[in-house]
Amino acid sequence: MLCAGYGRSAWPKAAPSRLPIPALIDGTNGEPIDLQIRRGAWSFKTDVKTPTLGFNQDYLGPTIRTRRNSELNLDYHNTLTEGVAVHGHGLHVPGNVDGGPQLEIAPGDRWQPALSIVQPAATCWYHSHTHGKTGHQVYRGLAGMIIIDDEMTDSMPLPRRYGIDDLPVIIQDRTFDAQGRLVYSLDDAGEDGWLGDTVVINGAIAPVANVPAGKVRLRLLNGANARFYIVAFADNRSFYKIASDGGLLTAPVPLKTMEMSPGERCEIIVDLSDGKAAELLILFEDEFDEDEEGIVGNLQVLLLRSKRPRPQPSLTLKADRTLPAHTAPLPEKLATITRPKESEITRTRDFFLAMEDGSGKGHGTHKGHAAMDMTINGAAMDMNVINERVERGVWERWRIRSNDGAHPFHVHGCSFLIEQMEGAAAPPDQRGWKDTVVLDDDDWSEIVVRFDHPATEQHPYMYHCHILEHEDRGMMGQFTVS
Ligand code: C2O
Ligand code: CU
Ligand code: CU
Repeated sequence: MLCAGYGRSAWPKAAPSRLPIPALIDGTNGEPIDLQIRRGAWSFKTDVKTPTLGFNQDYLGPTIRTRRNSELNLDYHNTLTEGVAVHGHGLHVPGNVDGGPQLEIAPGDRWQPALSIVQPAATCWYHSHTHGKTGHQVYRGLAGMIIIDDEMTDSMPLPRRYGIDDLPVIIQDRTFDAQGRLVYSLDDAGEDGWLGDTVVINGAIAPVANVPAGKVRLRLLNGANARFYIVAFADNRSFYKIASDGGLLTAPVPLKTMEMSPGERCEIIVDLSDGKAAELLILFEDEFDEDEEGIVGNLQVLLLRSKRPRPQPSLTLKADRTLPAHTAPLPEKLATITRPKESEITRTRDFFLAMEDGSGKGHGTHKGHAAMDMTINGAAMDMNVINERVERGVWERWRIRSNDGAHPFHVHGCSFLIEQMEGAAAPPDQRGWKDTVVLDDDDWSEIVVRFDHPATEQHPYMYHCHILEHEDRGMMGQFTVS
């Protein structure tokens, strides 16, 4: 099969692969879902297998579908020879089922968290959160998607046929050795974390998906260890962002380029009713010069400015007119989001993320770059220390900045609202529910947040940088909610 409009010279022999679509497991009936954490062997490149990890499959895991006001019962079985903790990123659940590092599943053991899903429809995910090994285990494949539905979203004219016009798109970057095996080393990671050189989408390099010639919803997850991406389409077409980490925005936001930091999710709608293929570009933000007018904007300007060759598509969507298409106009209004009044905000906390050449004593045996001290408010993650104690059910303002560079700051157990990003008011597409916010050394990012579920000293929540090598080296803290 030929592949028109595709930069074939870069991929001379192998035909592009199909976009792998993880199996969908319906969790809405409350039946326990078996999730076997296991070793695998996966071919990112044709004919070369590399050792990987996955849930029920060789790499990544099934997509779990659940629903607001239902019980989600998971049954993890760790068949590895090392411990694994698995966190439900974005879920509003108590600390004892959140899957932080205290909840490590020993080799051979099971963990059966019962989750009451009370939050609105959203795209969340589950991934390894093992103390000191999160980066390694996620890199090998321990991540999967969770889709939460609710009645309000059901009633909206949005594409919702999983794998047809509603696609999970897990974006990662990976480095391979000459034999095509995955390469990873926490000790050798630079101060920006472990940066891969090749984009993989659901574990495939530059795959193709056949989709109906209509509106298609992509549930984008930046599942990278460390990379910040710029997302755009090769023909500079507009798309609509409809949801961020914690669910629908108040209205669709038209965009041509968009940034995504590690841990973030964005649901976008792209229209293929003209029948033309849509080539999704995943660009590495660190390769662009952000001095002039910021990163986002017009793709052509961005590419010109960086004097870069035309990038290869990371995912090609081909319109197939034989498939029934979703053509209804997008709703003008999506969710209602109520921000707290200033008088409701009871206190302010500051978080200062720091990277410093130091003794390295915070993180034991690592050498080289790992000798950097990675801290929040002067302290590296210590499983025996509760860093903050938060009162349940009240609004707080959290202000976060760093001494050096950009970091995605993530908070467990909640969705929050961004007030300021790097000292400026949050743009429209950042004004929905979030659980990860980008901050920089230029100025504070500020969020307002409220925790509605308990987290005890035994099973606290985490806040941390979602650059997994920063997290693993200590840029993380623990807090209780009571
Ligand atoms: Cu997605 Cu604490 O992590
Ligand atoms: Cu999380
Ligand atoms: Cu960081």
